[in-house]
Amino acid sequence: MPKKNPSITIAIDGYSSTGKSTVAKRLAKELSYVYVDTGAMYRAITLYALENQYIDKKRFDKKSLITSLPNINIKFKFNKELGFAEMFLNDKNVEKDIRSLRVSNYVSPVATVPEIRKYLVKIQREYGKNKAVVMDGRDIGSVVFPDAELKIFLTADPKIRAERRLLELKEKGFKGNFEEIIQNVINRDRIDSTRADSPLKKVADAYEIDVSYINKEEQFQQILDLARERLAR
Ligand code: DC
Repeated sequence: MPKKNPSITIAIDGYSSTGKSTVAKRLAKELSYVYVDTGAMYRAITLYALENQYIDKKRFDKKSLITSLPNINIKFKFNKELGFAEMFLNDKNVEKDIRSLRVSNYVSPVATVPEIRKYLVKIQREYGKNKAVVMDGRDIGSVVFPDAELKIFLTADPKIRAERRLLELKEKGFKGNFEEIIQNVINRDRIDSTRADSPLKKVADAYEIDVSYINKEEQFQQILDLARERLAR
């Protein structure tokens, strides 16, 4: 008898710059699944906070940001030419702006706020309610979809991640130097893993893959094999 609903939920969590979104995007394409970059959602809220001076080096006005949540409209819109969904903040395409080092430097503190997490997790669950989704982030396997059929946890040496991030930023036309980037990688690791609400951690049923010494192709094939194995069950 044919299977009724072979679709599964794939959760890809892990440290920053471990290639989560690249592999998740490709996997979603291969399986004709929806891809959701949850980091982009936290980044869009951070950009809003920066633009409205709710956060800077000296202060973070959490209360005003929380009160503003109903005015922050974040949407993914699929770009056919690029083959992936871009992030729109209040109808403006912010796909490039949210990847800047400035946003990277403030996103982790913003992501510690429980009200913001609650707001975004609700939207993320809505995106994934029909399964057939690949979602990447920090808490997908632990909080957003604890019942996901496939959970991946990506790690890599911080130095290697910083080198890859520097290359990526340069390709996107941003400036940046290694010292600045490794600091950002280390700071984000610390804040993301030690926050009280939904810290980044490997759950017991996740597959841990260290991508320090494997290339993007090997990373993709390993995860695709695991997905196919799950789909065949
Ligand atoms: O995946 P990324 O580097 O674009 O994510 C940016 C930040 O957003 C990350 O440092 C922590 C936060 N984040 C989170 O707390 N939970 C998620 N599910 C995704 C991202």
